[in-house]
Amino acid sequence: MTTRVLTGITTSGTPHLGNYAGAIRPSIEASLRPDVDAFYFMADYHALIKCDDPQRVARSRLEIAATWLAAGLDPEKVTFYRQSDIPEIPELCWMLSCVTAKGLMNRAHAYKASVDQNTDKGVDPDDGVTMGLFSYPVLMAADILMFNAHKVPVGRDQIQHLEMARDIAQRFNHLYGGGQDFFVLPEVQIDDEVATLPGLDGRKMSKSYDNTIPLFEGGAKATRAAVMRIVTDSRQPGEPKDAEGSHLYTIYRAFARPEQSAQFRRALEEGLGWGEAKEQLFALIEDELGPMRERYDALMASPERIEEILQAGALKARALATPLMERLREAVGLRSPLAAAAPKSAAAKPAAKKARFVSFRGEDGGFRFRLQAAGGNEVFLSESFDNPQSAGMMIKRLQQGLPEDALQARGGSIELIMDGVLVCRLPESELPALRAALSEL
Ligand code: TRP
Repeated sequence: MTTRVLTGITTSGTPHLGNYAGAIRPSIEASLRPDVDAFYFMADYHALIKCDDPQRVARSRLEIAATWLAAGLDPEKVTFYRQSDIPEIPELCWMLSCVTAKGLMNRAHAYKASVDQNTDKGVDPDDGVTMGLFSYPVLMAADILMFNAHKVPVGRDQIQHLEMARDIAQRFNHLYGGGQDFFVLPEVQIDDEVATLPGLDGRKMSKSYDNTIPLFEGGAKATRAAVMRIVTDSRQPGEPKDAEGSHLYTIYRAFARPEQSAQFRRALEEGLGWGEAKEQLFALIEDELGPMRERYDALMASPERIEEILQAGALKARALATPLMERLREAVGLRSPLAAAAPKSAAAKPAAKKARFVSFRGEDGGFRFRLQAAGGNEVFLSESFDNPQSAGMMIKRLQQGLPEDALQARGGSIELIMDGVLVCRLPESELPALRAALSEL
């Protein structure tokens, strides 16, 4: 069985070396495991909560996408998308808001910290607190529950948010599930193995401490300059150094093989000068980052390539989100009145304006879609696909038009075959309807 792993990256800054070693690298490694179905997304709606500088949000979205791709994320294997490209997420967020106790949100650490600070300052407890900040955990729950993630790898500061997501999911399942659960209860995943990289001054590497080592921004030059500014003690070359006690060595270990680290440690204990140690550290980091930086620069120079990848990702994600949202709407009593009124008889359906594909998960667990003509009639129902990605890709191919050799007569009916894959069978008499619908998408 595959485990669905999902995590979000808030797009309010530029990734630094600490983000790379602590989150990006381990997440990409995890995504390559055959038993993992990874969903990684850019939490750009969350970014609006902490950042009201549009340029910074826009730039950060681009930089973060380019960073993950350059670092080896495979968008064919991972569902990689932007939160704001999935309109079902804010819609679900509202439904969840309506079952979330305000008292639960009152207890959120981030909100309480703001209230405490305000109380200390003697100002209104809610001074500067927006509804976005207050209901941040509901949006995060929507991110997670939308895709029924089993595991959510995050930092310790997010544990409470995961507990809240489980609470909210349970509440919704209880109120509307009627015996069937809509939502999987997600589990938090904290990886203790992963390096929390110290910054230049030895405290946790963080933009708020102004002690970061840049990843790609500013080129190798900027990375090197920062490495040279790592704070060390004043021991001279030749004097033995306390390797274990130096954060330079901690950073080194995050990039080296164990035997390499052992050797570096010995060299320090035998008197290697800090200047030379920094050169060695920089060379080590650069070995790993150099090739990635080239890919990063190439991607940043063609944002349209990034956009294409993200749009394909959104399509894959929505192939799951849209059908779930339809079920949820129905569960809460917001079923489209047209769908409710229209009996099985397709002729009675009022005309929709355009033909469209509707994807859903079949009873057999496979992923299917149907093509609906502009009038609402079903033109065909697809075969079952193993995963939403292949169903989504097939829809995308069909939207681009029908190659002439895609239609093959067999045993009195027609098979629609794209790229060697059988999409559906339909009677020959349906061909005009198929062509018409595809031209009316
Ligand atoms: N709140 C997370 C953070 O600041 C980012 C995030 C948003 C997230 N939505 C998520 C993480 C969903 C995991 C799952 O790190």
